[in-house]
Amino acid sequence: MAQLLDLLVFLIPIYIANSSPVVLGGGAPLDFGRVLHDGERVLGDGKTVRGFIAGTLAGTFAGGLVSLFYLLPFFPNPLTQFTAAFFMSFGTMAGDSFGSFIKRRMHVAPGRPFVLDTILFLIVALAFAAPFASASLFDLPNLLFFAILTLILHPLTNFLANRAGLKNVPW
Ligand code: CTP
Ligand code: MG
Repeated sequence: MAQLLDLLVFLIPIYIANSSPVVLGGGAPLDFGRVLHDGERVLGDGKTVRGFIAGTLAGTFAGGLVSLFYLLPFFPNPLTQFTAAFFMSFGTMAGDSFGSFIKRRMHVAPGRPFVLDTILFLIVALAFAAPFASASLFDLPNLLFFAILTLILHPLTNFLANRAGLKNVPW
């Protein structure tokens, strides 16, 4: 496993992108209210244009700040690390929306817990980082660390966001 600090710092844009829409989202839904033949919304009201953009920008900004003073061993230079932060943030939001798409197809309502909620954004974000990162990022111990930490943190942060009044439901 790579240095613990490196793995945690690597995750910053992903986690920032994933969590900021709860605070910064709202307004027009990303699917503009469209319903598919199965009678369900394409994505639902939980995915908004503003949330998608805000999540992407917040994650990119956080990753950009990090790249100014901390070069991760997975990237050759700060600019590549910054570029990766953008793609990882965008990938996080894309994975999050893709998860909602699958949820709606399985008739799971927005806000209801679903296994993909906790991990799909991470998988897509890692895939989006792949073109920029060295292969060592994808060592099995690193992937296990990312997966386990995310599976723990996701319900925990949702619970805390609920207690703080940011979310209606504790998941
Ligand atoms: N959010 C947003 N835009 C996004 C993603 C999230 O505005 N692209 C906001 C919404 O207010 C959403 C909240 O963040 O309700 C929590 O996000 P999430 O748990 O991902 O959405 P859910 O409401 O649970 O909907 P879904 O079942 O589609 O995931
Ligand atoms: Mg949810």
